[in-house]
Amino acid sequence: MKIAVAGTGYVGLVTAVCMAEKGHEVTCVDVDENKINMLKAGASPIYERYLQEMMVCNDERLTYTTDYRNAYKSANLIIIAVGTPEKKDGSANLTYVYNVAKEIAESAENECVVLVKSTVPIGTSDKVEKIIDENKRHDVRIDVASNPEFLAQGTAVTDTLNPSRIIIGVQNEIAEKVIRTIFEEFDAPILVTDRRSAEMVKYASNDFLALKISYINEIANLCEIIGADVQDVAKGMGFDPRIGNKFLSAGIGYGGSCFPKDTKALHWLANMNDYELKTVKAAIEVNEQQKLKLIKKARKYYDTFQGLTVSILGLTFKPGTDDLREAPSLVNIPILLEEGARVKAFDPVGIENFKRLMERSDVSGINRIEYYESIDETIRGTDVCFILTEWDDVKNYDAVNFRKFMKTAIVIDGRNCYEISLMKAAGVEYCCIGRQTLK
Ligand code: UGA
Repeated sequence: MKIAVAGTGYVGLVTAVCMAEKGHEVTCVDVDENKINMLKAGASPIYERYLQEMMVCNDERLTYTTDYRNAYKSANLIIIAVGTPEKKDGSANLTYVYNVAKEIAESAENECVVLVKSTVPIGTSDKVEKIIDENKRHDVRIDVASNPEFLAQGTAVTDTLNPSRIIIGVQNEIAEKVIRTIFEEFDAPILVTDRRSAEMVKYASNDFLALKISYINEIANLCEIIGADVQDVAKGMGFDPRIGNKFLSAGIGYGGSCFPKDTKALHWLANMNDYELKTVKAAIEVNEQQKLKLIKKARKYYDTFQGLTVSILGLTFKPGTDDLREAPSLVNIPILLEEGARVKAFDPVGIENFKRLMERSDVSGINRIEYYESIDETIRGTDVCFILTEWDDVKNYDAVNFRKFMKTAIVIDGRNCYEISLMKAAGVEYCCIGRQTLK
């Protein structure tokens, strides 16, 4: 099948490469010429395991272009995978999605199906269809379907090749047939619904996971107060198949390009329809507070960060990605700098993106950040260490070194990376989330 993919971000590029892997001819379209040139040169603009190798392996079936007209002209399937960034009021910005809809209407000369894969508010696919109908240049049948994406960063390629489920929101059987031929090659249950329900599955799933994280984070906070261990509590809960043992890791809150944006967008959408999603609102509030947890814990040792050197292990919002969107580092480091601290930061892949973000921001004191590729050098001479991302390098780090290299061996761990007994044995003052360390 001839497929065009609009947008070469996480969802677009990974989908395109996986479709090429399945034998389809795929054209990736993006407005960003730099990105397209990079892709043409065989380099992935994002860090994602297996992606670059698979791009190279499927080179013959992958084309990259800014010329949307040619790409959409004769495609059988056009996948919309452009961004839907958060607007100031919490709603999703749909400008890019609607622009692509117009471009498809102008360019498509063949009967085709348009799949909306971007995370979009309920009712967006209906609008995409309307835009296409109103702007169509050629008298061809164009069907619009919703097909939400469930890949997670860091495991995007394997998630796409082995999806947990495929949701297809369609209005008629002709579109369903075309889409089924593509997805029957994947070993996953297929659920066919109407378009609005398919769009809702995406938000309801992401918001449920966000709720689960905020819930376990609140339980962790209470565990600290009453003297219980959240990891044991989560383990005990997880044996119940109705609860499940995933997404119960307490920490410093969820980040990334999805949960923060999708919780706010659904809450906004409900409000617009005179309904309040109280559980989602609570999850958002808990998450905002949780991101400040390490700063509050550090206050037990230091009244102010003025004059201190703080080491930071992990800048990205989670391991396996160089993405910094809504990462706890973006909340914690500015507070430390604001109070006059020096910051020494480590991340295996996120440093360049972090530097760029800081340079473009109005955060004051960024000249007091130093970046390191070694944990030894990062923690050397520091007064306190914050763990913000559970990279393997961090989890496997020898606890004895904190004592050896830090000026004062205080480690405040937002990701529960270490055994408490090991840290104690190594002579480290260790604080973590929802576990008893101080007695
Ligand atoms: C999330 C969903 O997991 C995907 O299913 C979905 O397709 C994707 O959003 C999307 O909408 O595109 P992602 O944001 O890449 O994927 O990452 P997650 O692994 O879900 O982690 C999100 C955040 O939650 C991270 O900051 C992570 O540290 C945090 N988290 C996760 C916890 O704090 N505790 C947990 O137990 C799990």
